Amino acid sequence: MTKTSERKQQVLQILHDNESEYISGQKLSDQLKVSRTTIWKYVKSLREQGYLIDSSSKLGYRLIKAPDILSPEEIKRDLETDVLGSEVIYYEQVESTNNLAEVKARKGAIEGTIIIAKEQVGGKGRLGREYFCPSEGVWFSVILRPDLKPTFASQLNFVAAVALARTIEQLTNLQPGIKWPNDILINQRKVSGILTEMNAEIDRVNYVILGLGINLNIEKAEFPEELIRKATSVKEEFGKEVSKLDFFLSLLHELEKEYVKLQEDGFGSVLQGWRDYNITLGKEVKVNNVREVLKGQAIDVDDEGALLIKLEDGTVERVIAGDVTLNTEYN
Ligand code: BTN
Repeated sequence: MTKTSERKQQVLQILHDNESEYISGQKLSDQLKVSRTTIWKYVKSLREQGYLIDSSSKLGYRLIKAPDILSPEEIKRDLETDVLGSEVIYYEQVESTNNLAEVKARKGAIEGTIIIAKEQVGGKGRLGREYFCPSEGVWFSVILRPDLKPTFASQLNFVAAVALARTIEQLTNLQPGIKWPNDILINQRKVSGILTEMNAEIDRVNYVILGLGINLNIEKAEFPEELIRKATSVKEEFGKEVSKLDFFLSLLHELEKEYVKLQEDGFGSVLQGWRDYNITLGKEVKVNNVREVLKGQAIDVDDEGALLIKLEDGTVERVIAGDVTLNTEYN
């Protein structure tokens, strides 16, 4: 962090700590050991970010309202995690946070580094698809350096899916379902997706980029034509907006809990949580993988996160990656 942004964060912290009263420019300037003009510049820059700060020549400055943004300043104040969010980088607009995270990870960024974007213009979905990421959603990527063999890296999809479903449930009381491997659906429509990318050697993961996208406050009318029937948002289902910051902080907390659980108790305990939200197992499904279309009953998930499908002839097929369609879903 540069000296300037560090000081700006200090000004913000002081304003937050004194939200009910004014704090004089002189006091701020004494505390931070910079001129009153510099303080005024920080306030101006905070206002540009959306902070509503009242100023009076006699009384000084008072924070009236903070914007609902996922900036490092806002996140760091209430972050309760030990690893996730070790570093937080925020952009207004990017192509894809996964791509940026990949560059950072390659250069050695520490575990838990998070790249967040208000909007993505080249958002990436699973299986090489594009992903719709307007500014009302939550889009971010986490750099992880887990002690896992590459074949088990897909277990992280389950970690993220459980954390997402639990966060949605806790904040809204809605009942989300997880469609294998990691799509989160509410009332049969998708609200959230996960894209996990990995850099590994034969027997060792170097790093994993866990990319999460949540349609948080997107209006139905905003979805492009081809998504209207398949996608929804938390706001549409809940009936009102959910604070991005509250959502993000709860999600990070749940994500860390599941990540620690995976490392300490093994995949079985994560899978147990996943089963609570599972809407795939026991159902008749159609799976499109790169090679073929399989139809049958989804019967279980194995240790590598693969879906086991019992085909009509009684044989069991193992699917590592693919798209599952449930017969209850809107297509
Ligand atoms: C899917 O369901 O197809 C996966 C969607 C993953 C979207 C997220 S948004 C943050 C991160 N950056 C990306 O470009 N994609 C993931």
